[in-house]
Amino acid sequence: MEKLLIRGGVPLKGTVSISGSKNASLPIMAAAILAGGRSVLRGLPALRDVLTMGALLEQMGARFNFSPDDSLAEIDASELKNPVAAYELVKTMRASVLVLGPLTARYGRAKVSLPGGCAIGARPINLHLMGLEKMGAKIELEGGYVIAKARRLKGASLYFDLPTVTGTENLMMAAALAKGVTVLENAAREPEIVDLAETLQAMGAKIEGAGGSLIEIEGVDELKPFDHEAIPDRIETATFAVAAAVTGGDILIKNSRPEHLDAVSIKLRETGAEVKKTPAGLRVKGNGRPRSVNITTMPYPGFPTDVQAQFMALMCIAGGTSTINETVFENRFMHVPELKRMGADIDLQGGLATVKGVPALKGAEVMATDLRASASLVLAALAAESESVVHRIYHLDRGYEQMEKKLLALGARAERIK
Ligand code: EPU
Repeated sequence: MEKLLIRGGVPLKGTVSISGSKNASLPIMAAAILAGGRSVLRGLPALRDVLTMGALLEQMGARFNFSPDDSLAEIDASELKNPVAAYELVKTMRASVLVLGPLTARYGRAKVSLPGGCAIGARPINLHLMGLEKMGAKIELEGGYVIAKARRLKGASLYFDLPTVTGTENLMMAAALAKGVTVLENAAREPEIVDLAETLQAMGAKIEGAGGSLIEIEGVDELKPFDHEAIPDRIETATFAVAAAVTGGDILIKNSRPEHLDAVSIKLRETGAEVKKTPAGLRVKGNGRPRSVNITTMPYPGFPTDVQAQFMALMCIAGGTSTINETVFENRFMHVPELKRMGADIDLQGGLATVKGVPALKGAEVMATDLRASASLVLAALAAESESVVHRIYHLDRGYEQMEKKLLALGARAERIK
């Protein structure tokens, strides 16, 4: 298994360019199922999760041609022979569940392995299923699979008990081809949902309100293929922003959308970092020892749970005590024991971490447990005084394109080893 060897203590300096968003690309890839013909997705990052979604579409009978050098994929899901998402792929990527809505809407049937629990929480999909059922699908659970059947989905008024990102996406895609009007209340408001809605609109869907908590979709009989460019990855952007702050560096982040990062930028400024929108990109500069800051994760536009682990690495070396309250997932603190191995002083009580800043972290061998936890450990290692080895780096490869190449270009001392 590959590991990342990092010799910390170098302030990162220079320019980095952000890749297309993973969490925008995955639902847009699934949206190709809704149309006959060849869809084109640009800005698609070469990530393990993207390849998994491509493999899933291919298994169902779609064509998926991806040129990573051009960040471009062509997807043709005109005639799917096998509308099944098998356990083998779903167990490696929960976002596979995003094919459920499009398959049921276009083919009237879907068989999708029920994702199991995951390192960060139980993550049920009851709200996805509730929505499809209310739209007239018959849902059965059989042998670990969700089987959905519907002659034609019909519009419905749906209320989410809590805003779910992939749930909102799944049902928005299903509603685009349903008969009648669907209303999604308490919908998630993430920029990735707006990006999907814009793709669907370009396909001919009638959608209003995406980006707000009430989305209205008037179903149409047919959708056409899309040619769309995914938005830049806001979580990758935030990760490099924290990298600048935690190493006391100065990074110009190109191809980013700073307006998607307001909560993170505000909190970074509170730590004392300089965060400036410039015509060339977002410039983030560390400014001595960070000040401690309290954060609470929330659905967008709140502070993203996907940046909680990275921000904690910064708070580990702050001058003062911070609290980090994780409210989205019940178990998203797997990085805490690893950060402690590097000398961090963290007390964890349920969903609340109290972080007493130490003057410096020390290098250690640490183990990544999930995607954002691995980013947190990489950031901590970059800031640490000596050498660290981050094990199980395959988690990082799920969501960060060319991470160590980008870090090397910023002056980091990092090396991937077998
Ligand atoms: N939830 C339910 N029932 C449901 C659906 C969700 O109870 O039917 C709960 C979840 O257990 C969780 C909360 O609702 O406590 C929010 O989960 P959500 O459904 O919004 O998460 P998701 O759609 O499974 C997406 C991202 C995650 C990101 C979360 C929250 C994708 C492919 N994944 O997951 O990204 O953390 O939203 O913002 O978009 C990552 O990229 O590292 C990642 C985990």
